[in-house]
Amino acid sequence: MHTEYLFADQPLQLARAAQLLIEGKLVAVPTETVYGLAADASNPEAVARIFKAKGRPANHPLIVHIAEPEHMHRWAEQIPASAFALASHFWPGPLTLLLKKAAHVDSCVTGGEPNIALRMPTHPVMQNLLRMTELGLAAPSANPYQQLSPTQATHVAKGLSGKIAAILDGGSCQLGLESTIVDLTQSQPRILRAGPITADAIAQCLGQPVAAPQRHEVAISGNKKQHYQPRKPLHIFATDELMQQIKRSSQRIAVVFYSQAIQSASNTIENLSGSTPIYRAASSNKSLYAQALYSTLHELDALDIDAIWMEQPPQSTEWNDVNDRLARAATKDDGK
Ligand code: TXA
Ligand code: MG
Repeated sequence: MHTEYLFADQPLQLARAAQLLIEGKLVAVPTETVYGLAADASNPEAVARIFKAKGRPANHPLIVHIAEPEHMHRWAEQIPASAFALASHFWPGPLTLLLKKAAHVDSCVTGGEPNIALRMPTHPVMQNLLRMTELGLAAPSANPYQQLSPTQATHVAKGLSGKIAAILDGGSCQLGLESTIVDLTQSQPRILRAGPITADAIAQCLGQPVAAPQRHEVAISGNKKQHYQPRKPLHIFATDELMQQIKRSSQRIAVVFYSQAIQSASNTIENLSGSTPIYRAASSNKSLYAQALYSTLHELDALDIDAIWMEQPPQSTEWNDVNDRLARAATKDDGK
C-alpha cells in the first residue's frame, strides 16, 4: 500500500486526511500526547484495520477521541457526575475517561470489554479532523504493537509506512507521553495508566480519593509489562551504579542522564572497551524530560550501539508516568 504523506498546515491536505477517514481508511494524526493511528470508531472494518496495521491483538481496547464533552453520550451510558466534572476541568487535554459502553456501540472498538475509553484531545489538527469528519476517531498510538510510541511524523513512517493510507504531519507532540487513563466505572476512581495529569490533580478536582496503584495489574495493552520498547536493550541504573557500570562496561552504549553528577563525570569516566559512550543530556524538568523521551529513544535506537542505559529518574509522584513507561521499555532479562 502506498502511504500518502500529508501536511496538516496545508488545508487541501488536511481535507484529504479527513476524506480518507470518512472512507474508513487509516490516517496517523498528531495529538498533544503522541501520534495516533486514527480510524472511524463507528466502522468495524475501519477499526479492524487498526489492529491489523499495528499487529495488535483484537482484545486490546482502543481510545475513542471525541470533539466535545457532550459526545460522551454517543459512546457511553450511566455516565457518572465525576465524568462531567473531570471533562469540564481537564478537556480538551491528556485525560482519558473509562466509562460504561453504550449498548449500541460495537464492542470491536473496546476489544470486547464492557467499558469504553473516551478522550477529547486539545491538538488543533485533531480537533479540526473531529469537526470536519463529524466522527468519533479510534486512535491508539501510531506504532507497531509493543514498540516505542511516535512523537514525530517520521517516527510513524519508520514503523507503519506501507501499512496505512496516510500520515498527517503536524510537527512534534507537545507533551510526548500518552494520556492519563482514569476508570470511573467503580465507586472509587482509579488510575489505569499514569500520564500528564496526576492522580492528585484528579482527586483535587473531584474532592474524592483516587486509587493510583504503583503497578498496574490490568493485563491489557499499554499495561503489559513489556511495552514502549526500543529494539536495543534498555537498562535503568541509579546514578552511582550507572557510573560504576560505565567504568566496567566493554559494550558500545548510549547513556541518557539528567543529573549534574553524570554530566560532570561524563568527560572523565573511562571504560574497558576504550570506546567513549554516547551521552544524551535529558532535562531535569519533568515536562521537558517527558516531551523529549520517546524521540531520544527513537534516535538512539537507530545508532550502531549495543545498549541504551538510562539514569533512573526521580522517584517522586510527579515522575510516575515517566517511570511507568521506562519500566515497561526496559529489557526484562536481568531482573531489573
Ligand atoms: O494519549 C493517548 O492516550 C494516545 C493518543 C493517540 O490519544 N493514545 C494511546 O492509545 O495511548 P493506546 O491504544 O496506545 O493506549 C490506550 C490504552 C490501551 O492500551 C488500554 O490500556 C486502555 O487505553 N484502554 C482503552 N480502552 C479501554 C477499555 N475499554 N478498558 C480498559 N482499558 C482501556
Ligand atoms: Mg500505545
